[in-house]
Amino acid sequence: MAVEVLTTADGRAKSALSRAHAATWRAARAAGTPLPVGTATPPLHPARPTTPRLLPPRDVPRRRPGSPQGRIALLHAVAHIELNAVDLHWDIIARFGHVPMPLGFYDDWVKCADEESNHFNLICDCLEAQGSHYGALDAHAGMWRAAEDTAEDLFGRLAVVPMVLEARGLDVTPGMIEIFRKAGDPQTLAALSVIYAEEVAHVAYGSKWFNWLCGRDGLDPKDQFHALVRRYFHGSLKPPFNEEKRAEAGLPPDFYWPLTEADAP
Ligand SMILES: [Fe+2]
Ligand SMILES: [Fe+2]
Repeated sequence: MAVEVLTTADGRAKSALSRAHAATWRAARAAGTPLPVGTATPPLHPARPTTPRLLPPRDVPRRRPGSPQGRIALLHAVAHIELNAVDLHWDIIARFGHVPMPLGFYDDWVKCADEESNHFNLICDCLEAQGSHYGALDAHAGMWRAAEDTAEDLFGRLAVVPMVLEARGLDVTPGMIEIFRKAGDPQTLAALSVIYAEEVAHVAYGSKWFNWLCGRDGLDPKDQFHALVRRYFHGSLKPPFNEEKRAEAGLPPDFYWPLTEADAP
C-alpha cells in the first residue's frame, strides 16, 4: 500500500490513495485484525507529476509575500512540502519494514500520511481559489534528499525528517499564519491552522520512536541525535525556535541548540 502511494505521480491521486489506504489500515486495526506489515521495495524517488519543474533550491526565485503573487508562491512551496511529506511518511513504512517495530509505529506514520494528504489538498484548494494550482510554479528539487541520505538508517531518518525538518515547520508556520491574517485570506488561514495544530504530533511521533529505538539499544538519545543530524543534515539549525511547540512535541532545548551555527564545532 505504501509503495502504491509512492509510485502514484499525480498529487491529487496520490493524496486520495493515501487517504483510502490510511482508512483501510485504521478500520482493520479497529476491528482487531491489523493488516500484516511485511516488507517492500520502495522506489528511491517517489513518482512525481510532470509539473512543477524541480529546480536546485538556489534557482527557485524568492518572492516577497507582500503581494498576491508572492503569497501564491508561498502557498505553492507549502503544497510542495506537503506532497513530499505524504511520500516521506509512506516511505518510512515501506523502507524499514525489515526492522521489527510495535504496531503503534505504523499507526503513527499512517496517521501522519493521512494528515499530510489532507494538508496537500487544503493548500491546493487555496491555490485554486486564487486562480493558480500546484504545478503552476517551479519547486525545490532538494526536498527528497533527506530521504535518500537516510535510506539505510532508521535512526537517521527519524532524527532528520520529523525531528529536524518537521520541527522547522513549527518554527515558521506562525509567521505564515500572520501573513495570511494580514492579507485577509480566511481560507488559507484555516488551512494553515489545521497544519500547525497537526504537525506538533508528527514531531512528537518522531521523538517518541527515536527515543524508543535508543532505549532498545541502550544509547543516549541526545548524543545520538547530535551525531546523526551532523552526519545526515546539511547545514546548521536556524533559530529562532518555537520553544513552546517543540517542548509540546518532546524536543528539549539541549537537542537542537547545540546544532545551531553559534554552537557548531
Ligand atoms: Fe503537513
Ligand atoms: Fe508533518
